[in-house]
Amino acid sequence: MTFGLHESSAPADDDRGVNTSTERHFADIAGARLSRRALLQGVAASALLAGPGGALAQTTLSVGLGSTLTFTEVTPGPKPDHAVAPGYTAQVLARWGDKVMKGAPAFDVTRQSATAQAAQWGYNNDFLAFMPLPSGSKNSDHGLLWANHEYTELHMMFPGLDPKTMAERATQEMVDVELAAHGGSIVEIRKQGNRWQIVDDSRYARRVSLASTNMRLSGPAARHPRLKTSIDPTGAQVIGTLNNCGGGVTPWGTVLTAEENFNGYFAGDIAKTSEERNYRRYGFVAKPRYAFARFHERFNVEKEPNEGNRFGWVVEIDPYNPNSMPVKRTALGRFKHEAATVWLNPDSTLTIYSGDDERNEYVYKFVTRGRYNSTDRAANMNLLDEGTLYVAQFSDDGMVTWLPLIQGEGPLTAANGFESQADELIETRRAADLLRATPMDRPEDIEANPVTGRAYIALTNNSNRKPEQVDKANPRANNQYGQILELIPPGDGEAANHAALQHRWEMFLVAGPLEQGGQYGAGLSPAGWTACPDNLAFDSLGRMWIASDQGEAQSKFSIGDGIWACDTTGPGRATTRFFYRTPTGGEMCGPCFTPDDRTLFVSVQHPAADDPGSTFDKPSTRWPDFSATMPPRPSVVAITKNDGGIIGS
Ligand code: FEO
Ligand code: CA
Ligand code: CA
Ligand code: CA
Repeated sequence: MTFGLHESSAPADDDRGVNTSTERHFADIAGARLSRRALLQGVAASALLAGPGGALAQTTLSVGLGSTLTFTEVTPGPKPDHAVAPGYTAQVLARWGDKVMKGAPAFDVTRQSATAQAAQWGYNNDFLAFMPLPSGSKNSDHGLLWANHEYTELHMMFPGLDPKTMAERATQEMVDVELAAHGGSIVEIRKQGNRWQIVDDSRYARRVSLASTNMRLSGPAARHPRLKTSIDPTGAQVIGTLNNCGGGVTPWGTVLTAEENFNGYFAGDIAKTSEERNYRRYGFVAKPRYAFARFHERFNVEKEPNEGNRFGWVVEIDPYNPNSMPVKRTALGRFKHEAATVWLNPDSTLTIYSGDDERNEYVYKFVTRGRYNSTDRAANMNLLDEGTLYVAQFSDDGMVTWLPLIQGEGPLTAANGFESQADELIETRRAADLLRATPMDRPEDIEANPVTGRAYIALTNNSNRKPEQVDKANPRANNQYGQILELIPPGDGEAANHAALQHRWEMFLVAGPLEQGGQYGAGLSPAGWTACPDNLAFDSLGRMWIASDQGEAQSKFSIGDGIWACDTTGPGRATTRFFYRTPTGGEMCGPCFTPDDRTLFVSVQHPAADDPGSTFDKPSTRWPDFSATMPPRPSVVAITKNDGGIIGS
């Protein structure tokens, strides 16, 4: 998400940038790498080098010109309604307030209650995971859909509120609705013909929330004194999850959901706690955007100084077992996790990538110590508790070096405040500062191409980058548009080894219009440029699908947020094409394919809310209901091709 001008009087709590590390920016070390010419040479070289992916793309290309993506692009926005390429259908599948649990009351926005919300689809659906039924199959017509509910927009949920004053005016009932609207939902869904339906009263149906879902803390930081609170003297149990942005799926069929802007929920004077240095590094402020601390003491750092250490983790959830307890995996570190993308390495260890989404923050990966066992699901359930967390340092010869965050090594010593591995995981950012990681332009999603084995980092924008900090990987000062980097590990395709301590990197594309420095593959159409890449997904042919989050700049850019698609190999490499457009003021999230590539699920977040001045009473759109008595509603959309073909063909 991007909080912009319409936010409350509170200082921005997500992406203003709090890194005061003195580490040189990439410019100093990257030298003159990757001029435009070099970028184009890279395109040609990768077309030659691409292993199985290149071969596949070439085969497909023999029947087409340029891009393998042959759909007709949507027209630029922003506009009140959403739009998808001609020949496709975009079906609204689940909206804020829709029934999830048996007995959920019908949505009545004028009388919304915390009890009703606890059984209904939450707010601001984000990351999506389609989990086939039966478990372990590749069924693409029947499965479970997990959705993150990242955050709430009080002034879009209740009448009469102004974003500048809503934190003071929120009532306890409103706050309790917000707590219940955070977290995630699981619904069982089935496709008949080309239409998806939610299965009524499914035994899998579940709401996970910030209000009431008990979770376990596991891994090296669990039970540490800094995680203990008055209601949890064990330091191993916590109520709920919040700001769940991106995520991932494990090979054993669990969902990883990533806690992002956790700082924005905690109020009070951090100077009165023992965690001041820690909380300052994560941007805690005395008066945050949310009013939770007025009604729930655990969100007041002066009353409950350690509760803020119990958020900012990656949470693992088993959607196939509705009674399972979600687990916060502390071994993966504590920061503003954008996502948690899993890659199975040739030696059966797993790499989990995660960006820390704030200006000038870092890119991380975790490599498990244990190995995945495809025949023993239970044996995999604690794989994420042991392993090594690394942070990325990009060097001038096109290499990425992964620096391990291991307590006792290098500067990560007791003298620097790291007495145990738990300390280092709780304060991951400060540990990474000391290792001189490379500050980046807001790392969002990281996703690996299943065909080529290369991974891609979406860097969404960075208005804090100064001219003297410009470089080839972060090539613009006051970067409004973002870029996508390509990570090249040793090995191709399934043999790609994302556990390796060094990778190569290339610039994949520089977003924005060409006249603002945008760099794409050949043959970009007038509607084809994109801006502010956020979530990424790959189809099984290895084509990239990019979701954008332009925030309030979308009215200025005049294209609209949405989904763009491109090849990553062959002549269509990095030539983006505009496939789906969100309604105005919305943000595009969560692209997710069924295994057969015939359905693409996407999340539309906060329609209208990024248009300045939009409120519940006067929204810029009332998508998707377009009813005078209904506010705009965040919703999940299922996109299918009318002829039943694969998406993008
Ligand atoms: Fe929740 Fe970084 O977008
Ligand atoms: Ca987002
Ligand atoms: Ca974003
Ligand atoms: Ca993704």
